[in-house]
Amino acid sequence: MSLRLGDIAPNFTADTTQGTIDFHEWLGTSWGMLFSHPADFTPVCTTELGKTALLKDDFAKRGVKVIAVSVDDLDSHSKWVPDIEEVNGVTVNFPIIADADRNVATLYDMIHPNASEKATVRSVFIIGPDKKIKLTLTYPASTGRNFTELLRVIDSLQLTSNYQVATPADWKEGEDTIVVPAVSTEDAITKFPKGVRVVKPYLRYTPQPNK
Ligand code: BEZ
Repeated sequence: MSLRLGDIAPNFTADTTQGTIDFHEWLGTSWGMLFSHPADFTPVCTTELGKTALLKDDFAKRGVKVIAVSVDDLDSHSKWVPDIEEVNGVTVNFPIIADADRNVATLYDMIHPNASEKATVRSVFIIGPDKKIKLTLTYPASTGRNFTELLRVIDSLQLTSNYQVATPADWKEGEDTIVVPAVSTEDAITKFPKGVRVVKPYLRYTPQPNK
């Protein structure tokens, strides 16, 4: 059965371009992003891994450890990394899991046989400090991911894990948030001293509480 939000992210031991890791130990108390790549030496993946390296400070600022996985071996990864670095003008500063035995791909249901028998789809798992899965995304091999969206959704996940707010459509860091339905308008006025704007009894906006 596929993994669902709130499930514990399955643990595994794997060889990576930065040594052997126990996934849960490697995560420690950080947030994590595990994302899969159909194969080494493929064009879209080369751009995605370059983009991830470019965004190193953006992930670090949010306390998110990033780890990629591809069902090729370590020798192949080691030969591919210089290409990624050359093409994107970056240093690949995060581990890439060598998953030739598909252990991780199977644990995380990253192979969708009706899309491809051999390669993974582009899965994303955002994992919280409690090791629980907070977000899953699945893209086909032919569509590179939107990394601005990945950072945006991490901002929302981190905010909503700390405050009784949700984020509206297309929300971005700094914009107004929505008071969750579990909080009455009377309580919201006390909880959110920056103000509560009632549009409907069930739609109440408040400025981002941690800004
Ligand atoms: C790629 O990663 O570039 C890719 C992989 C499979 C199909 C299309 C593109």
